[in-house]
Amino acid sequence: MRITIVKDYDEMSKKAAEIISKQIRTKPDSVLGFATGGTPIGTYKELVRMHKEEGLDFSRITTFNLDEYYGLGPDHPQSYHYFMFSNLFNHVNIDPKRVHIPDGLAKDVEAFCKKYEEEIKKAGGIDLQLLGIGRDGHIAFNEPGSSLTSRTRLVALAEETIKDNARFFEKEEDVPRFAITMGCGTIMEAKKILLLANGEAKSDAVAAFIEGPITSQITASILQMHPDVTVIIDEAAASKLKRKEYYKHVDRLFRDLEKKT
Ligand code: PGA
Repeated sequence: MRITIVKDYDEMSKKAAEIISKQIRTKPDSVLGFATGGTPIGTYKELVRMHKEEGLDFSRITTFNLDEYYGLGPDHPQSYHYFMFSNLFNHVNIDPKRVHIPDGLAKDVEAFCKKYEEEIKKAGGIDLQLLGIGRDGHIAFNEPGSSLTSRTRLVALAEETIKDNARFFEKEEDVPRFAITMGCGTIMEAKKILLLANGEAKSDAVAAFIEGPITSQITASILQMHPDVTVIIDEAAASKLKRKEYYKHVDRLFRDLEKKT
């Protein structure tokens, strides 16, 4: 796990966009895994800027989103479909046919989830998966207790997550109670993973998944078993890490080495 600790949200977003744009430039037909929530908005803004000002080309990119609220259609302003199009896809030259987001209105959910997994495989697997983390340590909607080998499926949201996501809705009762989400096992098959977190509210979850035991109670902790994870967090999110200075030291060493090579 490579851990980069940055000053604030802006720096986190710029660094994340740099990594994603490098992936796109190196492999223009990359398969990218995207996330929603407050965390990646700045990253998407920066990617839009790179497209407009630097010609970053999304035309051959394929995307898969982590999750979608069950019961919300693509036109619902709080759906993750809506989020992705309004924050990123509407502003870059992506081919909408290559965009995949779980269908919150799927009639046969089990069949849909199976098909979603097959589509990821057919595309050649995800080259780079972007992730946030919940205060309860979740990745995507894999809430505490989710199997660490889980696949795409219907899940119920934890109470903490419903409360956290209520800020996007008029009232807490409006937050859907279910979602379709990629599983931990699905996420673990991505070739590279980029996890972002900012703010003090995430500091317990960050410390637990990086320095705690691997446990289904903190589903992000399974990332300790992944061979290529980059974590970019701000100082506030990093504040409860015991070995913070060590991670900074390692990151500095690698940065110097990369400058020389
Ligand atoms: P947030 O959500 O980016 O809105 O904090 C992250 C998550 O729940 O994975």
